[in-house]
Formats: sequence, C-alpha cells, structure tokens
Amino acid sequence: MSKSLSQIVLPVAGGTALALSLALVVANLDYGQNKISSLEGRLEQASMRADEAAGKAREEAAVTAELEAKIAEIQADAKVRAASNPGLTEYAPKRESGYGLGRKARTEEIAAWDIDVLPDGRGLPQGRGDVFTGEEVFAEKCASCHGDFAEGVDNWPVLAGGFDTLADKDPVKTVGSYWPHLSTVWDYVHRSMPFGEAQTLTPDETYAIVAYILYSNDLVDDEFELSHENFSGFEMYNKGGFLIDDRPEREYARWSSEPCMENCKPSVEITMRATFLDVTPENGGESVMNDAKADDTPTFVAKAATSDATGGEAETAAPSPAIDPALLASGEKVFKKCKACHAVGEGAKNKSGPQLNGLIGRPMGAVEGFKYSKVFVAAHGEGRIWDETALTEFLAKPKSYMKGTKMSFSGLKKEEDLAAIKAYLKSFGE
Ligand code: HEC
Ligand code: HEC
Repeated sequence: MSKSLSQIVLPVAGGTALALSLALVVANLDYGQNKISSLEGRLEQASMRADEAAGKAREEAAVTAELEAKIAEIQADAKVRAASNPGLTEYAPKRESGYGLGRKARTEEIAAWDIDVLPDGRGLPQGRGDVFTGEEVFAEKCASCHGDFAEGVDNWPVLAGGFDTLADKDPVKTVGSYWPHLSTVWDYVHRSMPFGEAQTLTPDETYAIVAYILYSNDLVDDEFELSHENFSGFEMYNKGGFLIDDRPEREYARWSSEPCMENCKPSVEITMRATFLDVTPENGGESVMNDAKADDTPTFVAKAATSDATGGEAETAAPSPAIDPALLASGEKVFKKCKACHAVGEGAKNKSGPQLNGLIGRPMGAVEGFKYSKVFVAAHGEGRIWDETALTEFLAKPKSYMKGTKMSFSGLKKEEDLAAIKAYLKSFGE
C-alpha cells in the first residue's frame, strides 16, 4: 500500500481525457465541412449580387447620360430663345461663391410687387373715384364684413367713428379716428382687401372706396371725389397723434454709460418699505408716490420706519364705537395711505408726519417736537385751526391747500374716502 492515491487516479483521468479529445476532433471535422459549404454558398450569392449591382449601375449611368443630354438640349434651346426674344432676361452670371441660379428680375415683375403708397402720394396710380361710386362698391364688396356704414358687422373691424375715445381705456381705433395718413388706407385696401380676394380692386374702385370710408367718418361731404391729384393734400384727423421716436438721441446715451458695479454708494440704508408706501395697492388705490415729480422727490427718511414696520398695528388702537362702524371701517382702510407717515391712538408718536390724535379743533402745526415746514409754522402763527372744511380741502389736495408743505401725498380723490378718513380721525381723541 505504498502507491499513493494520485498514481492510481492519474492514469484513469488520462484515459478519459484522451477519449474526450478524440471525440472533439471528429466533431470539429464535421463542423469544418459544414462551415466550408455554407461559405461557398454565400460567396455564390455575393457574386450574383455584384453582377446585379453592376447591371443597375450601368442602367443608372445610361439614365444620367440621357438626363444630361436633355439638360444640355434645354440650355441650348433657352440660349437660342433668349437670343431671339428681348423680353427674356439673362441667367444670373455664375459667381465664385454662388450657384448661378435664377435670373435678373424684369422691370414689369418689379413693378408688380412695388405697389406701396407713401404719405406724399408717391406710388399712387392715376385714377379717381367719388363717394357715391364708393358707396356702391363698398356695399357690394365690403359691407358683408364691415357693415353698410363701415360700422363693422359682429366682430369684423369697424372702419368709422371712435373720434372721442382715443384717450379712453378702450379706445376705438378706426381709419377715421386713428390712422394718421390717407396713404395707409389706400395701400391697405388695395393690397389686402376684400378679405380673401386681395388685390382684385382696380385703382378707380380703390379711390372711390377710400372716398366713401372718409365720408362714413364725416371727414368729407357726399360730393367729394378722391384722385391722385388731390390725394396728398388730404389731412387725416389723427395726423398729429404720433410722436417721432427720438429715444436713441434723448435717452439711450443717458442709460448706456458704464454702470457702477461696486462701492457705488458710501452706505446703503433702507429708508422706507414698499408695503408702507402703498406703491402696489391691493385694490387699485392711488399710490402716495403718484404725484412725486423729479423736482420734489418725496423725502421718506422716516426715523422710526423700521420699528414701525413691526409695531405699527398696535398704535391704531380701537376707536370709540359712537360712530357708524361701516364708515369707521372704511376710514381705517383709507388710513393705510397715511400710516406710513402718521400714527393715531394711544401713545402715537411722530413719524415722518406728526401724530394725528385729537385733530379736529387742534391748531395747525401744533404737535410738540415735530419739525413743520414753513407754511405750517406760519399757519400756526396765524392761529388757524383744523376744522372739517380745512381738513377736507387739505386732504383733497395737500399741495395746493398748503403751498410748500412737505407732506408728499397726492391727495384723496374720492368723496367717500374723505368722509371716511374724517370719521376715522375724529374717533381718536387726545
Ligand atoms: C370677408 C370679410 C371681409 C371683407 C369682405 C372685407 N374685409 Fe376688410 N377686413 C377684414 C378683416 C378680417 C380685417 C382685419 C385684418 C387684420 O387685422 O389682419 C379687415 C381689415 C380692414 C381694414 C383695416 C381696419 C383696421 O382698422 O385695422 C380696412 C381699412 C378694410 N378692412 C377695408 C376693407 C374694404 C375697403 C373692403 C372692401 C373692398 C373690405 N375691407 C372687405 C375682413 C373683410
Ligand atoms: C409720505 C408721508 C405722508 C403721508 C402718506 C401722509 N402725510 Fe400727512 N403729513 C406728512 C408730513 C411730513 C406733514 C407735515 C407737513 C408740513 O410740515 O408741511 C403732514 C401733515 C399732516 C397734517 C397736519 C397736521 C398738523 O399737525 O397740522 C394732517 C392733518 C395730515 N398730515 C393728515 C394726513 C392724512 C389723513 C393722510 C392720509 C390720507 C396723510 N396725512 C398722509 C406726511 C404724510
């Protein structure tokens, strides 16, 4: 039992390996045969395809040659025709960078596109038309959309009227009220109307229609005739209503200097807050900044502004209930416009404006420790008193009632606001 285990196991393993590798050789021989025949098949196919392709290429070359011959024929023919026909223009010359496509436009072609009419009448074709004829053509070709009197059917554009509406919120901009030049009307109608049948109107029809549109705007009487001769003399209603844009000269230079990007101000302080200034009123109210102009820029250096931003509410203590509560409520709302500068109620302090407790019956300019403007100092000296009338007039137009006042407030425009603020202020005694 001196033979080690490995000496017995190895011959066994060797025999198995030999048998396995023999089997593999046989299988490989078989595989090689298969592979060769499949490759042969593919080779055959490929050469068939190559033949096919060669055939196709020959066909295509023939077609190309045919086409080239045709092009040469057409070009030669065109040359002959161009030489014998002066109406035909030359082909554009071949340029180094270009393709030599197209040809120069003919004078007639340019003329067909060049139909614009200028305010001084340049570009107008000769012709004439009167209001009467215009009415007939308009009724036939335009009225179905623009109405018999150019008043506009449904939502189609209205062409007449609207003269006193240009400054309104919803201006009615018509040919009559808005268009500054008659040439625009002529050009527009001639170029693009009737809708869907653009450029079907003759010059005479266009003159007549334009005359009729002027008539329907009460700008001419019914005998009026428009022609290329009197055209440029006609002045439209809104001729002066447009400005020449001179911003490039007047403004751009001011804004285009090098902007300061650092250390632009010695120190930056917040002097007031937008919510207090009411610059974006919740429901379309007036801003206290409305009347601020460059020359009397409001001085909102409210000393107490930052602390008031948090403690402001407490200062408007509950008013006495004797007065109509609805009026008081709206008074409190109106007081939002004053609150940035004035305080009322218990312990009210001066802000950028004096505290307003016990105002009715109080002498003007009388709050201790507040630095009034000269006009208020003078009013105080004259012994003037705040009564209802004085307060109404002052709050309606502070700057005109107290010329020189430093109260930067545009005034309360509405009667009901004035009534409400007075009721509210009255509710705060001493
Ligand atoms: C089928 C409806 C239709 C017919 C017919 C028609 N229009 Fe118009 N017209 C329009 C429409 C739509 C516009 C507005 C086009 C736009 O704003 O682009 C317009 C605009 C105009 C305007 C400009 C109005 C403005 O203030 O901007 C004039 C002027 C005008 N038409 C004149 C005429 C005349 C003259 C005729 C007859 C020769 C005519 N239209 C026939 C539909 C019509
Ligand atoms: C932007 C700040 C500001 C706003 C907003 C403002 N005021 Fe004034 N108000 C002042 C200043 C400043 C004065 C002192 C005027 C002067 O000396 O010329 C003043 C003075 C007054 C006075 C005179 C007081 C006195 O002692 O004689 C009354 C009354 C008054 N304001 C009411 C109002 C009311 C009411 C509102 C709101 C509807 C209002 N102000 C809005 C700044 C303001």
